[in-house]
Parts: sequence; structure tokens; C-alpha cells
Amino acid sequence: MKLLRIWACFRLIFVLDCAQAEYVVSVDSFVFDPIDREVVLSQSATIEHVGNRSYLSGHLYLGRAVDNLIALGSLEISRPKLPRVRLFNSKFDLCGFLKNDYKSKFLQQFHYRFVTFTNVRPLCPLKPHLNYTLERSYLDERILPELLPECSYFLNVEFLEKAKRLAEMHISGQLHPVNKKKGPKNHVKL
Ligand SMILES: *[C@@H]1O[C@H](CO)[C@@H](O)[C@H](O)[C@H]1NC(C)=O
Ligand SMILES: *[C@@H]1O[C@H](CO)[C@@H](O)[C@H](O)[C@H]1NC(C)=O
Repeated sequence: MKLLRIWACFRLIFVLDCAQAEYVVSVDSFVFDPIDREVVLSQSATIEHVGNRSYLSGHLYLGRAVDNLIALGSLEISRPKLPRVRLFNSKFDLCGFLKNDYKSKFLQQFHYRFVTFTNVRPLCPLKPHLNYTLERSYLDERILPELLPECSYFLNVEFLEKAKRLAEMHISGQLHPVNKKKGPKNHVKL
């Protein structure tokens, strides 16, 4: 899968160069838009800024059980005076992600960060009439690969049950590398 290939490539760079990776990642916008309101009965998405960190919280309350969850995710970055670049645009099996089936270390880390901040571990089928909450989750900047450029990022995820669209999520913000190291540019092929 393309997504996994990209993360695998990032991981390689990360392993070679992990000591230097330091970023401040801020989230400016976190929006969760229900599309099917018979399935998504109630939800919220909020950001809290403390120091250099953005904490995301929210809840999701479903009207019926949901299985076969698929996410269509795209990540784009933009830098001053350069065209927007799409890093990936891929489909992935969210039920597999929730079970932590992905072999990618990056996705496993991401999974670990995500489940740490939920009240119950979400697994497919997602249960109806259970208030799934996410409490002050944040990205561990240390899991990011080295040599990402200073940029704005735009993450869009569409959630589907098989082919039925349930909701969309949009997260955007800024990535600032700190302690920039001198060295060859553009190790990460965008
Ligand atoms: C925020 O990050 C900057 C580096 O970009 C650093 O100089 C500053 O001390 C940090 N502030 C806090 C509150 O951590
Ligand atoms: C679910 O939990 C959130 C956060 O605690 C709360 O704001 C919301 O009202 C709850 N929703 C339902 C339907 O219980």
C-alpha cells in the first residue's frame, strides 16, 4: 500500500537520523463533520493550546453498530512560494488499524498514542450508545522522521462503512523544525 511505503521510507530516514528530529507541531484547526446523522448521533472536536503543544479532545456517540470501517486519508503540505505537495492519498482499513494489525512502526506508534487517550479501546464493530471519548491527545513529535521541512499541513480523512460515507475529519496546522541541522537538503523525497 502506498501509505505504508511512504511510512517505511520515513522510518528508514528516522532510524538513520533519529537523534536530531525535533519539531513543534501546532494544530490550528480540528473539525469533525458528520455526514450520516443517523449513524453519528453526537460528536465534538476541540483543541487546547498549552505551551508549544496542541491537545485534541472529542467524543463520538453512534446510533448503531459500525463495522468494515475504511478511511480515505490525504496529507498535503505547503511551503511559502511553492506549490502544495500531496504526501499521500490512500485508503486504509481502520478496523485493522484499531486492532493494531499494521506492521509499520510509525502506525503502531500512532496507534499507541491514540488508544492511550481514549476512555475505552475502540474495536470493530464500534458499539452503539457508547460514548467514545478522546481526552487531550497529542502527537509525540519524536515519532516524526528527520528533515521534514517547515510547512503548513492539511490532513483530510473521510470515514466510510464499506462505500457509505459516515463522516469527515480535517486537521491542519504548522510544522516547525527546531534545532535545524546543517546538511544535505531534501533527504525526504516529497
Ligand atoms: C516553544 O518552542 C520554541 C522553539 O521553537 C522554544 O524556543 C520555546 O522555549 C518553546 N516554548 C515552550 C513553552 O516550550
Ligand atoms: C460524551 O462525553 C462528552 C465528553 O465528556 C460529553 O461532552 C458529551 O455530552 C457526552 N455525550 C453523550 C451523548 O453522552
